Amino acid sequence: MSAPTVRILSDAQGVAEAAADRIIEVAIAAVAARGVFHLCTTGGSTPAALYRALREPSRAARMPWEETQIWFGDDRFVPRADPLSNVSPLDAQLLSPSADGAPSPLSPSAVHPWPTTAADAPTAVSAYLAELSAVAVPHTPAGFPIFDLVLIGIGGDGHCLSVFPSSPLALEGAPVAAGVPAPTHIEPHVPRLSFSLGLVASAREVLALAPGAGKADALARIFSDSATVTDAPAKAALIPTATWLLDTASAANLTE
Ligand code: 6PG
Repeated sequence: MSAPTVRILSDAQGVAEAAADRIIEVAIAAVAARGVFHLCTTGGSTPAALYRALREPSRAARMPWEETQIWFGDDRFVPRADPLSNVSPLDAQLLSPSADGAPSPLSPSAVHPWPTTAADAPTAVSAYLAELSAVAVPHTPAGFPIFDLVLIGIGGDGHCLSVFPSSPLALEGAPVAAGVPAPTHIEPHVPRLSFSLGLVASAREVLALAPGAGKADALARIFSDSATVTDAPAKAALIPTATWLLDTASAANLTE
């Protein structure tokens, strides 16, 4: 199977800008082909910088905001207003007026958070999958949404989404999405809602974002032949439809 594309930028800002530029390119192509752009964004701290890069005037002017729908690959099972929510960076950077007072170019109804007010995880999962169907997001026969672009961050333990090492969501035949117990080995120690790895394989395109020295060991393990996808679930994105955006610090331990 041919490999993903790997790009090494100078630093985290370079990764954010390269990601924002690629999002716009894919968005324009998706709208031209299907009239809509379904973006599945990631959680963690990495996306805030790319949201800011997307709001930069020359980029914001090129982004087809009105035809864009934003979904989340996973979230912490906390209220949207909680600082641990994966929606809060997007609310702050994309749905709020910019520093110079420019209104948000994105309609709040175009953002689809996980229903974290649901009574329990199974209820939240079926509600989210129902919302995807209601918005007519295409699906695979196995039930995975086919997003135009899936963004993933990479955890220090080699996880992506909220699919941690040895997670049942890393296995073949795993459910499309499920609740994930609070991890004890990695912050934040809160329960999650997450798609399984089939989401990555089902996407038209994947962008893996991994800047910073803190990712160097995990990336070396992910790209090594010795680790399995159960050991390092982000290996699921070592596919030809994926582009990995690294920086010199995070790529430091990678061999040719
Ligand atoms: C989450 C994420 C998770 C994240 C990685 C990287 O909910 O935590 O979805 O998969 O992308 O842990 O996080 P950072 O961007 O903070 O390094």
